[in-house]
Amino acid sequence: MLNITEIQINHLKEPKGISKNLIIGWKIKSSYQNVLQTGYQFQILGDSSFEQVLYDSGRIESEKSQNLFIDISEICRKSLCYYYVRARIWDNYGEESEWYITCFLTALLKEHSWKADFITAERLRDKIHSPATRLRKEFIVKKTLKHAFLIASAQGLYQTFLNGSRVGNDELTPGWTNYNKRLLYQTYEVTDQLVPGVNTWSALVGAGWYKGDVSYYRIHNFYGDYAAFSGELILRYEDGSEECIFTDGSWKGADSAILFSDIYDGETYDARLEDGKWKENGYSEEGWRETRPTHQRREQLNPQSGSTVRIQERLDVKEVLVTPKGETVLDFGQNISGWVHFHVHGKPGQMVELICFESLDSKGNVYTDNLRTAKQTIQYICNGRGEEEYDPHFTFQGFRYVWVKEYPGEVLANQFQAYALYSDMEKTGDFHCSDPLLEQLQSNIIWGLKGNSVDIPSDCPQRDERLGWTGDVQVFCNTACYLMNMHEFYRKWLCDLASEQREDGAVPHVIPDVLALNQPDHYCGASGWGDVAIVLPWILYQETGDKTVIYQQYESMKAWIDFVQSHVQDGIYSLGAQFGDWLALDGEEGSYHGATPAKFTSAAYFAYASRLFVKMAEAVGHEEDAEKYRTVYDEAIRHFHGRYFLRDGQLSIQTQTAYVLALSFQLVPEQYIERTINRLVELLRQRGMHLSTGFLGTPYIMHVLSENGRIQEAYELLLKKDFPSWLYQVEQGATTVWEHWDGRKPDGSMWSADMNSFNHYAYGAIGKWLYEVCGGLKRDESSPGYRHFYIEPYPGGNLRYAESIHESGYGRIAVRWEKQKNQITLKIEIPANTTATIRLQQTENVLDCGGLIFEKTENMFAADAGSGKYSIRFQRSTDR
Ligand code: BGC
Repeated sequence: MLNITEIQINHLKEPKGISKNLIIGWKIKSSYQNVLQTGYQFQILGDSSFEQVLYDSGRIESEKSQNLFIDISEICRKSLCYYYVRARIWDNYGEESEWYITCFLTALLKEHSWKADFITAERLRDKIHSPATRLRKEFIVKKTLKHAFLIASAQGLYQTFLNGSRVGNDELTPGWTNYNKRLLYQTYEVTDQLVPGVNTWSALVGAGWYKGDVSYYRIHNFYGDYAAFSGELILRYEDGSEECIFTDGSWKGADSAILFSDIYDGETYDARLEDGKWKENGYSEEGWRETRPTHQRREQLNPQSGSTVRIQERLDVKEVLVTPKGETVLDFGQNISGWVHFHVHGKPGQMVELICFESLDSKGNVYTDNLRTAKQTIQYICNGRGEEEYDPHFTFQGFRYVWVKEYPGEVLANQFQAYALYSDMEKTGDFHCSDPLLEQLQSNIIWGLKGNSVDIPSDCPQRDERLGWTGDVQVFCNTACYLMNMHEFYRKWLCDLASEQREDGAVPHVIPDVLALNQPDHYCGASGWGDVAIVLPWILYQETGDKTVIYQQYESMKAWIDFVQSHVQDGIYSLGAQFGDWLALDGEEGSYHGATPAKFTSAAYFAYASRLFVKMAEAVGHEEDAEKYRTVYDEAIRHFHGRYFLRDGQLSIQTQTAYVLALSFQLVPEQYIERTINRLVELLRQRGMHLSTGFLGTPYIMHVLSENGRIQEAYELLLKKDFPSWLYQVEQGATTVWEHWDGRKPDGSMWSADMNSFNHYAYGAIGKWLYEVCGGLKRDESSPGYRHFYIEPYPGGNLRYAESIHESGYGRIAVRWEKQKNQITLKIEIPANTTATIRLQQTENVLDCGGLIFEKTENMFAADAGSGKYSIRFQRSTDR
């Protein structure tokens, strides 16, 4: 039986807000092994009863089942309209599948421009404060409705309602972009929320990133002075007529019960100010004021088709504690990004005050110093009208613990829940193994990703920072792509990156860029940070096989390479402010900078980035560029060899990171590889097999060891439990990855509070090694998107089993090995229309080949496999 089990459009399921192109891909299921698609047909339809076929590919003899590109601008011409895609396939067994159908909703298309005003009800005094305001309007649905759609955006953050009920389930919309150039809008179907006759449309608007504080400079009004809302409601009647209601001067506005809301500081809500059913029909607008339009360039509006922030998980209180100082604290057992949802029964004017924080101090008391100036405080003033329930609106907190500073009555666990908020991305990967500490590390990595994916990829979610630090994304994005479907989330951020790039190609340190305002030259152009402009498109391309990201970012990538190149003279990189191997342990006491010179990390990264750019230029057929930048790459290598390799083949910089980058980025001349790896191991041994690497060296150190025959040393390093190591923090009770190897020191004291995040995913980049090497599931660079991949597990470190699971565009890939004495059973699952090469290293004999043909080369057995499930048993030659 041959089936299509899912169709993704632009790597999303049933996306909303599609404007121009479709990238179509489907997953195939069959009861046979070795299934390859031989042909497909897909259609785009104007209705679900297949009467209006707008496009028909006809039967095409092709194996392609991913990344089928189609420009729909001439096919789907109606704004805010559902269109359908259906596909069927044929395979190498002569089977034909049924049609599989899915849909997408178009955005506001070119011919319909955004009519609505951005309206505000804020007053002059609100400019420097951050209250939220209310907006409302009644309107009439005149005839029987067929469909109704709502599109909305804001300068600030909005929640919108129809007849009192919330539209959609997204939070913190319209998200954070470079508002000076791009503002997103969301698209919702709202047919069921409307009634014939009178209806009320309302909205709450808060400051958010637009005018609330951003960055540790606490800049207020970064993008504008007044928070404003804009929306259009398109009513499509049964009789074919259409009407549009939109925000304009006829709306009225008023203050709200949200007296204050700020991304870093939290929210203050006075429930006594709730004045009845303002979101519903018939409410008296007495005392409400006129609204006025603000300025917004309509062409900056772009539809968002996925990855909006949502409440994704709800966590119960694990324990209610009373600290030695007498503070009442809720422990949710997990460090998250989100907010506290609570119930309270109080008298009018009584207060709930909650302070969210990450860690208790060494004595077990509340510790908020590492939040720096971020207050992370929720204040709720009761109205006393019975049971009250609260969710913050326009803020989020990074926390595991909550200090209940004030609360009327007894603090009971069941009155509180922690809501984890993060961008909506399908979970696509997992890793498990027999070591509980590694299991916890994996959980910490996943929670690090969740907590730092609140609309933008951030460095941390708790202190007065929470910025899109480019370096952090650069080192972690590969691991992230194994764990979640990051495509839309990263694509959005890359658009902002390109829009924020300086004329000379320099990439700001944070995207959206809120730092350069202070010191333009200081806040851009760092190696390893700006290189995200190249590395991220490359990783996305590797993960999905979709070249559109390369096309989208092409000019940005080229500009970055040109920028760096313009700062090199005879192999010496003079790039201005650099972070180098940030937070490495081999730097001077108290310094954030590691010992590896920034000129070295710049040289290494430049060679790496230009090599990747050449590959991407080739992938999209830009031969001339490929040629030109190959010369740039060759030159970079020549200079690197000349500057950093001594005559005897020794690297002139004696740090772990220097060795790691040179090996990982293929910068070591062939004849010196062995001595280089030997020396790296020596450097590790000098530190008792501990690492001293920072942001730039850490992601690669394990790979460098395992790729160069040092798997035993890799496991030794991985399984270290004393400082500095990945498992040190796990043993210290971490539930997310820490910014510092010793965020909390063995004696319980803390690293300096000025930079001590307990939710910083950079060192979680070890995840990639767990999935690829320990679990054994690895992409094939020459066949992006998992069309072909490798299964090459490296059992070791006394692990009894390990497994890597990944939901690729083609379907589920699973690898699990289990060890009994020196025999290993390997169970694998390969999705239809893909192939894999299985490589069994250090193997003496394959005892059960699972129907595959293994060939022996030196110490390895290898077999090619088509789709299906296999169970293989083999005997290891050595435990190395
Ligand atoms: C951030 C980092 C970032 C670094 C660069 C820090 O404040 O939290 O993760 O990459 O600055 O200097």
